[in-house]
Amino acid sequence: MDARPGPAESTLVEALHEHGQEHVLHRIDRLDAPARARLLAQLACLDLGRLREFRRLLDAPPSAPSGDDIRPAPVEVLPTNEAGREREAGIARLGLDALRADRVAALTVAGGQGTRLGYPHPKGLFPVSPVRGKSLFQWLGEKVLAARRRHGCGLPWLIMTSPDNDAETRGFFERNAFFGLGADTVHFFTQGVNPILSEDGRLLLADADRLLVGPDGHGGLFDALARSGLIEMLARSGRDLISCFQVDNPLMDVADPRFLGHHIRRGAGLSSKVLAKRSPDERLGLAVILDGRPAVVEYSDVPGDIAAARLPDGELRLRFGSIAAHVLSVPFVEDVARDERGLPWHVARKTYEVLDDEGRRTVRPGCVKFERFLFDALAFCRETAFVEVRRESQFAPVKNALGDDSPDSARRMMRSLWLEWLRSAGVRVPEQEAPPIEISPLYADSEEEFRLRMRPGRPPTFPLVLDA
Ligand code: UD1
Repeated sequence: MDARPGPAESTLVEALHEHGQEHVLHRIDRLDAPARARLLAQLACLDLGRLREFRRLLDAPPSAPSGDDIRPAPVEVLPTNEAGREREAGIARLGLDALRADRVAALTVAGGQGTRLGYPHPKGLFPVSPVRGKSLFQWLGEKVLAARRRHGCGLPWLIMTSPDNDAETRGFFERNAFFGLGADTVHFFTQGVNPILSEDGRLLLADADRLLVGPDGHGGLFDALARSGLIEMLARSGRDLISCFQVDNPLMDVADPRFLGHHIRRGAGLSSKVLAKRSPDERLGLAVILDGRPAVVEYSDVPGDIAAARLPDGELRLRFGSIAAHVLSVPFVEDVARDERGLPWHVARKTYEVLDDEGRRTVRPGCVKFERFLFDALAFCRETAFVEVRRESQFAPVKNALGDDSPDSARRMMRSLWLEWLRSAGVRVPEQEAPPIEISPLYADSEEEFRLRMRPGRPPTFPLVLDA
């Protein structure tokens, strides 16, 4: 084999030298031809301008917001009286009209790695439902299907994966016949990746023929939607609104007319659902006005004293946290995708297994990952709506293996909500601590729907499983 570099390879070697990254080539001569070609191909795809930007960020990390330039954002709160309820019902009609006119698509960001949950598969495969153990993907899929039936609309479901979990996610849907949704109505697209760097800004090798890379954050959605052609597909089919949500919340309302209605009424580009935080340290992004503009600031970026500050009446000053459910307007997504350079990079430090300079496998803490956040696009919105929702019926996140925001706490919340539905439908429920219940979204996905289907009568037997 001729090991002399060809012209393209020489240019690449020079560029790596220029950027102080030539160390990744030190052991390339020990690789066989296919492995060498793999590494070179990956290096050739590196965006060196972006790499320079990352190294600058390591030298000058972004500053934390101060108490002066961070204020509570105005929020469309839940109604507390009849007049308020009527107003909100009027706004929800705007959302209903949009759903019935087939202007809406659903989108799940599912490219994350679910590290905190300690589940070695894409999080959407996690068995969440309390009796049947249906996965998060199936549960959300049933919600999408239920919304299609309720509103008589197509509601395509877009799912963003990352290169790490794309094949396993697609395989799961295929093996499960797309949970009855129709294969041509579920559209996968894959977000991009960034190199993960050492503390001093050097590229790292995950293997002898492979750079260490990681997903570019859910802010990668704008670029990935444009690259995949899906944004064009939505625009062509007359869909101008995207209901976007995370994979980890089984109580998500995937097509919420009131939320859509507020977004439409404002002519907003990006809107977000919020709720009152349980405590100052609940790990939710905060809905705020930052330097005069609406923003969601990540919990880890808000200094503790600011997050804990209270008003004279005892209420948290920054009270509303984002549940990471958004409505995006398609033209807004197109605008951001055209010039997503404006989205800032966030830096996270993590431990990875890498090859050291001698080619030995080693566990390295403090490796730096660069991500963009979808909600940072709020900075480009002329209009936005923060809309308050009820925690008990909309937010049961599955984040941690145990304790708060765990599978157990999510199932407890699902059960409490269904007990509320049963009681409001006049069904007698034993006072037993936690009777096993599971109500599929295909049976009913709200208290109103449930009351229409369930007639008061004989006490039900448990476990109570109500399916399609
Ligand atoms: C997230 C929000 C937080 C919000 C909370 C509500 C961020 C940074 N923070 O916190 O403001 O209050 O949820 O539950 O999002 N994902 C991708 N690609 C990636 C990274 C993540 O698709 O590159 C997806 C994950 O699959 C998941 C979602 O984004 O569905 C959230 O990611 P995660 O890192 O778990 O954020 P949280 O810390 O839970």
